[in-house]
Amino acid sequence: MNRSAEHARLDRAAVSSSNLTGRIDANQRFAGADFNGWVRDLIGRLPGRRVLDLCCGTGNQLVAHAGRPECEELVGIDRSTESLATARSRIDEMDFRGTLDLYDFAMDTALGERDLRDRVFDQISCCYGLYYATNVLSLLDKMLGQVAPGGSLLIVGPWGPNNKSLFDLLRKYMTLPPLVERSATTFMTEEVEPYLRDKAEIQTETFVNPVSYPSVQAVLDYWRKTTFFDPAKETDVTRDVEAHFGNADAFVVEKHVMGLIATRR
Ligand SMILES: C[S@@+](CC[C@H](N)C(=O)[O-])C[C@H]1O[C@@H](n2cnc3c(N)ncnc32)[C@H](O)[C@@H]1O
Repeated sequence: MNRSAEHARLDRAAVSSSNLTGRIDANQRFAGADFNGWVRDLIGRLPGRRVLDLCCGTGNQLVAHAGRPECEELVGIDRSTESLATARSRIDEMDFRGTLDLYDFAMDTALGERDLRDRVFDQISCCYGLYYATNVLSLLDKMLGQVAPGGSLLIVGPWGPNNKSLFDLLRKYMTLPPLVERSATTFMTEEVEPYLRDKAEIQTETFVNPVSYPSVQAVLDYWRKTTFFDPAKETDVTRDVEAHFGNADAFVVEKHVMGLIATRR
């Protein structure tokens, strides 16, 4: 596959609503820790009257924002209209009294759109999405520019040894896409945190979620829904996963997550 075809395939996988739902379901079903509860706790510590959630997907963080009594204005941005429709129906099922605006915008340019450019927020959250930005640093500046003084950005993403057991196995047979290597390991600590440190008060928290896939099929089902699935390597990878289950009853993948709070001085 040439580079642009490969890029287009990764882009489709990143935006696919069914892949996102499948990954989240598997991670929750086999999880050893409560990731959503951890994020809800972080969100709940920050001001939450006017909130923007970038890369909101199917609404996992929107639901947490909408569940706070002080939330009056809630905005979600995502490139997937299908995910936005799911997010809307989840909020509709809640007793949310504030306003909800969902936009099918690309995050790099979203804050400059007519509906959003004059709005100010008390919290802007972005979970598992900032690394898809074309220009991360420019987007961080725009986010800080639309947060009220005393308000916060909340950036959540993988870091360090995230997914190590699975990545080590896959690396035997394939080169992981550069965006996957970067987003899963160095993005939070070498790009986001150093850039924001001079511009805001920074706090970081980490969380480990050991996800125990109980069968060969469960591991393969998860891999197939990721941006780093490579059908050409399926036979080799399946053989190794089967060998693993020869003397283990689970394949454990540790999700290492960092939450970075940047509060505007
Ligand atoms: C891994 S999901 C995270 C969704 C949600 N924040 C969560 O934690 O469940 C990443 C989301 O980013 C969206 N996305 C990817 N690139 C984007 C872009 N350039 N602009 C806006 N959304 C984008 C995808 O459609 C997807 O819903």
